Amino acid sequence: SRPLKVALLGCGTVGSAVLRLIGEQAHDLTARVGRPVEVAGIAVRRPDHHPDVPQHLLTTDAQTLVTREDVDLVVEVIGGIEPARTLILAALESGKSVVSANKALLADDGPLLHATAAKCGVDLYYEAAVAGAIPLLRPLRESLAGDQLRRVVGIVNGTTNYILSRMAETGAGFAEALAEATELGYAEADPTADVDGFDAAAKAAILASLAFHTPVSAADVYREGISAVSATDVARAAEIGCTVKLLAICERVGNGDGDSVAVRVHPAMIPTSHPLASVGGAFNAVFVEAEAAGQLMFYGQGAGGEPTASAVLGDLVAVARNRLAGASGQGPTGYANLAVRPIADT
Ligand code: HSE
Repeated sequence: SRPLKVALLGCGTVGSAVLRLIGEQAHDLTARVGRPVEVAGIAVRRPDHHPDVPQHLLTTDAQTLVTREDVDLVVEVIGGIEPARTLILAALESGKSVVSANKALLADDGPLLHATAAKCGVDLYYEAAVAGAIPLLRPLRESLAGDQLRRVVGIVNGTTNYILSRMAETGAGFAEALAEATELGYAEADPTADVDGFDAAAKAAILASLAFHTPVSAADVYREGISAVSATDVARAAEIGCTVKLLAICERVGNGDGDSVAVRVHPAMIPTSHPLASVGGAFNAVFVEAEAAGQLMFYGQGAGGEPTASAVLGDLVAVARNRLAGASGQGPTGYANLAVRPIADT
C-alpha cells in the first residue's frame, strides 16, 4: 500500500537525528504503523549546509512542501515563532497532521494551533517540546485524562540544572559554573533563554495547559532565572538539608468552583529527600500529583538530538496510526478553562 509521506521542516541537530532514525528504523516503523513511512522532502534554509542528506529531498520552499498533495504528515523542527507558525497553520489547513518540537510556538499560540487542528480534523502532537525524550505530554493528555491533577512540578531546563548541580558539587559561583557549562556545550553561546528562565516558562505554560485543560501562555507565567543564585545560597541550602533547583510549578489553586491555575518558574530550595533533589547534571524530571493516581515522577534526558528525535518519532507513529484509522487524537482542548492567575497574585 501507499507509503505515508513525511515533510521534514528543519534539518539541524534534531532534524538530522529524526531523518537518520526514520531511515534506520524503516522496517520497524512499517510494522508499527502498518505502512511504510517515507520522507517526501526536507525544507532547509541553506541546502549547501547539508551535504550528508539525499540532495533530491532538499528544498528551500517549505510553504510548497507542506501543502504538497502527496504529503500526509509534517514534522516541524525549525523552532522559533516564524516561519514555523505560518507553515504549521498552512499544513493543518491543508489536512496534514503535524508533529512539532516547538516549545516557544506552542507556549505562545497553542490555542490557535489546537483549534485549527481540531477544525481540520487532523493531529497536532508535540511531545518533544517539553523535556525532550521523556514521555510526558501524552501521559498528561491521555493516560491521566480521567484524573484530576493537582500539581505539576518540574526541572525542565537541563542547562540551568547542570549549572546548579555543579555549584552544589564544587562550591563554584554562578558565573564560573556557567562558563564550564558553555565550554562543555551544555549552555548555548547566548544562554539568556535558559539562565533567565524563558525556556522553562514556555515549557511550564505547555505543561499547565495540558495538565489543567486550560489555555496558559508563556506570558501568564511568573518567571525568575538563576543568575542571582550565589555560592552562598547553595551552601546555606545544603546546611539545612536542601538543594537549589530551578522549578517550573503548575498548580491548581482553590477548591471546587472558582479554582484557578497558577504557574511560576523560579529557583527554589527543596529538601534533599524529595525525588527532584537527586536529579543531577543536565537531566530533566517532572513530578506530578493527581487525585486518584497519587504521586508520579517522570525522569530522563531533556535535550539532545537523539533523545528529542525519539519523542518526535513516537509522535510520528501516533499520528500516522490515527491517520490510517481515519481518526484524530485531538479531543477538545481548553474545556475546563479555569481562570489563570495574573502574575502579581501568585
Ligand atoms: N536549552 C534547553 C535545556 C534545551 O537546556 O534544557 C532543551 O529544550
